[in-house]
Amino acid sequence: MRFWKWVFAGLVCAALVVEIGHGEQARTERISGSAGDVLDDDPVGRLKVFVYELPSKYNKKILQKDPRCLNHMFAAEIYMHRFLLSSPVRTLNPEEADWFYTPVYTTCDLTPNGLPLPFKSPRMMRSAIQLISSNWPYWNRTEGADHFFVVPHDFAACFHYQEEKAIERGILPLLQRATLVQTFGQRNHVCLKEGSITVPPYAPPQKMQTHLIPEKTPRSIFVYFRGLFYDVGNDPEGGYYARGARAAVWENFKDNPLFDISTEHPTTYYEDMQRAVFCLCPLGWAPWSPRLVEAVIFGCIPVIIADDIVLPFADAIPWEEIGVFIDEKDVPDLDTILTSIPPELILRKQRLLANPSMKQAMLFPQPAEPGDAFHQVLNGLARKLPHDPSVYLKPGQKILNWTAGPVGDLKPW
Ligand SMILES: *[C@@H]1O[C@H](CO)[C@@H](O)[C@H](O)[C@H]1NC(C)=O
Ligand SMILES: *[C@@H]1O[C@H](CO)[C@@H](O)[C@H](O)[C@H]1NC(C)=O
Repeated sequence: MRFWKWVFAGLVCAALVVEIGHGEQARTERISGSAGDVLDDDPVGRLKVFVYELPSKYNKKILQKDPRCLNHMFAAEIYMHRFLLSSPVRTLNPEEADWFYTPVYTTCDLTPNGLPLPFKSPRMMRSAIQLISSNWPYWNRTEGADHFFVVPHDFAACFHYQEEKAIERGILPLLQRATLVQTFGQRNHVCLKEGSITVPPYAPPQKMQTHLIPEKTPRSIFVYFRGLFYDVGNDPEGGYYARGARAAVWENFKDNPLFDISTEHPTTYYEDMQRAVFCLCPLGWAPWSPRLVEAVIFGCIPVIIADDIVLPFADAIPWEEIGVFIDEKDVPDLDTILTSIPPELILRKQRLLANPSMKQAMLFPQPAEPGDAFHQVLNGLARKLPHDPSVYLKPGQKILNWTAGPVGDLKPW
């Protein structure tokens, strides 16, 4: 059995390498129509954003206390603020703004190990909203419907890292009408409301760039994955962690030569991804994992294992065409599914992935570049314009309940 697996692996890889070698003349491909074209949209001139000026305790001071926040996977909340301050879509005149942005760094409270603690976030957010609603007239005009907030926590504006608790809390009531920019994306989940913009997690662009290897390097690894399979401390059985998908990958394929999988994170990790055809992305509840970003950057076809996931900028990026989606229940058949994909289809996915617009949309570079994730957020906001006239409240009309939600959230921050 083992022997045949090796022969098979060899055949598959050889076939792919040969095909890739012949594909020189057309290394990249664009999808005509909406997808690729939307990614290249220039948001300048299509929307104006007013950035509230808040006391530095809501942003700069928090970052000063813990500069690790700048490298965190949820650092988009900081970079988005910096980007908007110098963006041509910024307006200093709130009267002409289409969107209002409140720079509040609710994710920048890290444990010694670097995990974000969201316990203070609801009070901090509430405090910021109280401030903008009493100092400017714009919040009360719509009760937040023309305001957007960056909330990259695990379960976004539900502000808890445990799913049951997050569901119990629900989205912070004061943010009910606002547009949320978040990494969390799971269909039919209380922590994802309609109209939210799902973004990729922050992955350091320079670090990835320094590991690029020549584009023509053959992809001799069939399936690649590095990461935990079991969360030994919290979930030794592996049923909850990534909803069991990672444990199932390990149990079924640890001895399969087509699968280069391990918990050990090698120094050649980024290079290895560029030598692999498929990169497993067991994403659990959301595209938080940097693996998805890395796969796109390194042209490794992402194998997305996460039922009902909402991927970043899903209205602009043709994920179905770039990646492979595997139902969680089908993980034991991964080898059969992946080896039965026709080479032409694999090559097409690789050409689509090679499109620089896809890669650009996954990154938050400093300084910003056309088509990057910042621009995709703005494009998403621009596509929501004009606001429906019904979002503007009648005089005296109130919709939000300022005392709703857990009593603990009402304490001053
Ligand atoms: C907005 O409404 C709140 C609560 O109803 C009120 O306290 C506040 O003063 C209002 N803000 C402005 C600028 O009028
Ligand atoms: C607002 O929420 C609180 C707490 O859930 C509730 O007791 C109160 O009745 C609500 N007020 C209105 C006007 O719905």
